[in-house]
Amino acid sequence: MEEADNMTNEKLMAFARVATEFSYAPYSKFQVGAALLTEDGEVFTGCNVENASYGATNCAERTALFKAVSEGKRNFIKIAVAAKDGSPAYPCGVCLQVMNEFMPEGSVLVEENGQIIEYTLRQLLPKGFSLQQSTTKTE
Ligand code: THU
Repeated sequence: MEEADNMTNEKLMAFARVATEFSYAPYSKFQVGAALLTEDGEVFTGCNVENASYGATNCAERTALFKAVSEGKRNFIKIAVAAKDGSPAYPCGVCLQVMNEFMPEGSVLVEENGQIIEYTLRQLLPKGFSLQQSTTKTE
């Protein structure tokens, strides 16, 4: 936890902004970046990756989460989300549900009119779906 304390909201959002540069969004042209903070102070970034078959698109938040989980990390504290054009990029329902799985007590940083606003996941998703089994996270 101590290592993560060194990460300010401004720095985490700066990582998310850099990640927008890698966004692959030829269809929507809405370029999004995310930066996910682990308890040990590691940062995993992600961008949205679109597809000609629109439904195959992956949001920036899930890209970051899946990168981290696939590298053995599950202890997430916070995720920053940035749109390249500066508009607020609130996570979609699917991303909130994935956050609910791995960071139910975590928070989400969003830029609103140039200001970083911190929401708890519980504020954005008050009643997330979960299974009893998923709380053990062993499989
Ligand atoms: N998108 C994200 O990556 N994250 C968000 O928080 C909102 C939406 C992406 C999905 C799609 O590539 C584009 O933005 C337009 O919906």
